[in-house]
Amino acid sequence: MDNAIKFRPSGSRLSSAERYAPPAIFFHWAIALLVVIAYAAVIAKGYLPKGSAPRALSMTIHEWAGVAVLVLAVPRLLWRMIKGAPALLPGQGRLVRASSAAVHLLLYLFLFAQPVLGYLTLNAGGHVLTLPGLDVALPQFIGKDAEVGRSIKDIHETIGSAFYWVIGLHALAALWHHYFRRDDTLRRML
Ligand code: HEM
Ligand code: HEM
Repeated sequence: MDNAIKFRPSGSRLSSAERYAPPAIFFHWAIALLVVIAYAAVIAKGYLPKGSAPRALSMTIHEWAGVAVLVLAVPRLLWRMIKGAPALLPGQGRLVRASSAAVHLLLYLFLFAQPVLGYLTLNAGGHVLTLPGLDVALPQFIGKDAEVGRSIKDIHETIGSAFYWVIGLHALAALWHHYFRRDDTLRRML
């Protein structure tokens, strides 16, 4: 069967033209981990008592994980634009091609928009991010404004809630390719 031919038993190697290059794989998984940390920290914050040190620490972890996402997203996008991605595996129908392209585009937008909105939420709230251990404050891009801050925070939270689903769909699609379609889509990102 067509699909069975494309699934290779473990131990066989994909050619370098068929798989993502090592830097792309590093960016993918490092950023995925940081996004998970940002989500986990802000969820944990919700369970911790108001005004407590662990709650403040959760928020600091959230903010720095989010800033790190943005910092890595820049070289990641540059790499992607310059080097491109491996051609899609043969046998992917039009629906799979269109939906994966749309979801990947949304994920790239998210990696830039979400940290920027989070950062601006802080700025508008009059809070400054300071490099740990060094008394160096990151720049403020907008001034303190409670109303603007509330609006940006609402957008940041709405996008945050929506992307549980987008990221979940993306991860499920990868598992679907691997376990049900039995093709090499997941293996080329490993
Ligand atoms: C990929 C990166 C990020 C993700 C996935 C993310 C996700 C979220 C989510 C889901 C919430 C809502 C939590 C809730 O409903 O209680 C939230 C809140 C928030 N985030 Fe982010 N965020 C990211 C980056 C950032 C960055 C870079 C900053 C600031 C430097 C930031 C600052 C905030 C702030 C101030 C809140 C409001 C917390 C509160 O007062 O309840 N976020 N974020
Ligand atoms: C926060 C989490 C994640 C984000 C932001 C993310 C983002 C992305 C993006 C933007 C791409 C497109 C890469 C490109 O062509 O330049 C991609 C590809 C991919 N991702 Fe993720 N990803 C995440 C988590 C995951 C997880 C958990 C899995 C597996 C279970 C996964 C599996 C894959 C695979 C297999 C590809 C390659 C798809 C293909 O060959 O067409 N990702 N991811």
